Amino acid sequence: MNQRRLRASTHVRELAGTVTISHRDLIQPIFVEQGIPERIANPSMSGVFTDTETSIIQQITDDVAKGVHKFLLFPIPNQRFEYEFNFEFAEKVVRHIKQCFGDAIWLACDLCLCSYTVHGHCGVLNAEKTRMENDLSVQILADYALTLANAGADCIAPSDMNDGRIKAIRQILDAHKHDVVSIMSYSSKFSSNFYGPFRDVCKSTPDKTLKLQGRKTYQIDPSNLHDAISSSLRDAQEGADFLMVKPALPYLDILVRLSQKTDIPLVIYHVSGEYAAIDLLVREHLIEKNVAHIELWTAFKRAGASAIITYAARDAREWLT
Ligand code: PBG
Repeated sequence: MNQRRLRASTHVRELAGTVTISHRDLIQPIFVEQGIPERIANPSMSGVFTDTETSIIQQITDDVAKGVHKFLLFPIPNQRFEYEFNFEFAEKVVRHIKQCFGDAIWLACDLCLCSYTVHGHCGVLNAEKTRMENDLSVQILADYALTLANAGADCIAPSDMNDGRIKAIRQILDAHKHDVVSIMSYSSKFSSNFYGPFRDVCKSTPDKTLKLQGRKTYQIDPSNLHDAISSSLRDAQEGADFLMVKPALPYLDILVRLSQKTDIPLVIYHVSGEYAAIDLLVREHLIEKNVAHIELWTAFKRAGASAIITYAARDAREWLT
């Protein structure tokens, strides 16, 4: 068999290929911080900004012009809390964005407490600060989800990793006539070392003086295949509309296995550290940014992703045509 016949030209490669990438498959993360005087360029991630409440409107306008219509919002409040939370900033940002763009965009909102808590953990802690209080955290997150849905969010994306959150969020949304607001669960989210640049932006690095071992007591251990699969399937059962694998490249085996076990759309998150790694290669002239990302996106789709969260979504249409 001559394997090279199907590699011989662009035409035949296009016909023989089993996946195609479109900019329509991609979701662009956006960051909005309360009280900063002007937008901030990210020092380790090219083309990524922390916007002000005002500048985000221009950013989304520019993105829409580049064919981006799906966004994942990270609100960064300028106050920190311990047990009583105030979600007014996030609410205001979501409402403003949806007032400006309406159904021209699909707005998912990350749901977590790590940018809100004094200690940077994803939920509230017990009095001794030795563990995360699961049920209390879930209750607060469900109320937060309702606030975001009331403000117009199209999708709630819980990234906290407490047990039972999907069920609680679905219940509160349905009880308030938000049955069309979807839930994208960060269901196979690993305790990864690749979140560094993101935590700098969101000011969400967990307090290392506490006995919580970073996020290891609530995010999935990289060695545990079974936990990753059962957490995702559990979230599907609780009512998640999308499941997610995060980070991307080191965890494609999880994506492949999930795609064999469920028909729920799978999303993969190419995270900040993975994006910054490409930027470093580009800076050393060891790779070109566009082909690097396109190759990775292709691998993600081949492994079973139906959508990809990537910081380069806003470049995709230009790169792909
Ligand atoms: C919040 C959250 C994190 C990311 C998305 N939501 C960080 C974390 O869990 O510490 C990471 C995204 C990225 O690195 O691009 N819990």
